[in-house]
Amino acid sequence: MKTLLVGYKAADLFERGKHGKKFTAKWLDENVLCHTLDIYHRHAIEKTHHIRAICSPHLPEGPWDLIKFKTGPKLMSGELSLDMLQEIHRLKPVKFELEFVGKERDKNDLLAKIRDNPERVRDFSAKWPASVPGGEKLMFTSYPGCFCHRRLDEGGLALAEVISRDLTSSPIPQSPFPVPHSPSLLDMGCGCGLVGFLIKSVVKDLSLVMVDSHSRAVEAANINAANFNMTAEIILADNGTPARMDGTFDVFAGNPPYYSDYRIAEVFLETAKRALKPGGVCYTVVKNDAGLRPVQERYFPNVEVIRRRGYCVLKSQKPM
Ligand SMILES: C[S@@+](CC[C@H](N)C(=O)[O-])C[C@H]1O[C@@H](n2cnc3c(N)ncnc32)[C@H](O)[C@@H]1O
Repeated sequence: MKTLLVGYKAADLFERGKHGKKFTAKWLDENVLCHTLDIYHRHAIEKTHHIRAICSPHLPEGPWDLIKFKTGPKLMSGELSLDMLQEIHRLKPVKFELEFVGKERDKNDLLAKIRDNPERVRDFSAKWPASVPGGEKLMFTSYPGCFCHRRLDEGGLALAEVISRDLTSSPIPQSPFPVPHSPSLLDMGCGCGLVGFLIKSVVKDLSLVMVDSHSRAVEAANINAANFNMTAEIILADNGTPARMDGTFDVFAGNPPYYSDYRIAEVFLETAKRALKPGGVCYTVVKNDAGLRPVQERYFPNVEVIRRRGYCVLKSQKPM
């Protein structure tokens, strides 16, 4: 029975034995595929559950005998739940099972949205404006699942403002180095590309590499690059793109998530340390610098704190 597992911690929906044979050489069941939006989750599932997993912005084409979907108001946004449900409906599995964590009434409301108007195809993308001084207004596109879908993140904007200001004053403030011709920027955790594209709107000859672990972020960043007519290398990865951690970047920008006790911030800083050339500058942003500052000091000897928009931009230079 070809089964697709979808949604929050979808691998937990796998029931040993129920989906067919128990063990193959490597995977528990070749007929079961677990969908993830984030490549980090795909790697975790393959390692711990030994289920085949795929990371993609949209659900893989069938035919599927069974699609199981796990969601709920506390597990994912209502918009992402409905978007996923709409994709499942389009794939027309023989059987569909919903594991809803929440009130029965909310579950019925969600299902009714598809049942009451099955032919309606909703567009969940959003467009919103952002700009930095000296650059044109850019209309960003985002999707459910992307960080800050439908709105601008003030922390990301603060980061873009500080970096674009530094790159347009020579030498870089507090740095003995002039701004290089055609500087290179690694924007890690790029989301839909807010930071990198805003900086490029001011620094036109910026050579831009963006990386994110979320497939919908990468999809949005690609669409924004095309809409803005900007060139960027956009990579789906959760381990800091080893191929590009080559010590050649002039600037690193990171607005990491802080929900894991700085564990992800450390992945970002490790990447910055390896990706930057000697003398290159690392910028991160956080609401309150007290927690991140000692972490960043473990990777870079100096940390300067620049306050902007209620956020702290932490700036460090890689020693020569
Ligand atoms: C706070 S958001 C910042 C998005 C965007 N830069 C901004 O400022 O609006 C953090 C981003 O980091 C991504 N992320 C989380 N862990 C990651 C990892 N290990 N590697 C790359 N990106 C990661 C998330 O998917 C998310 O898009």
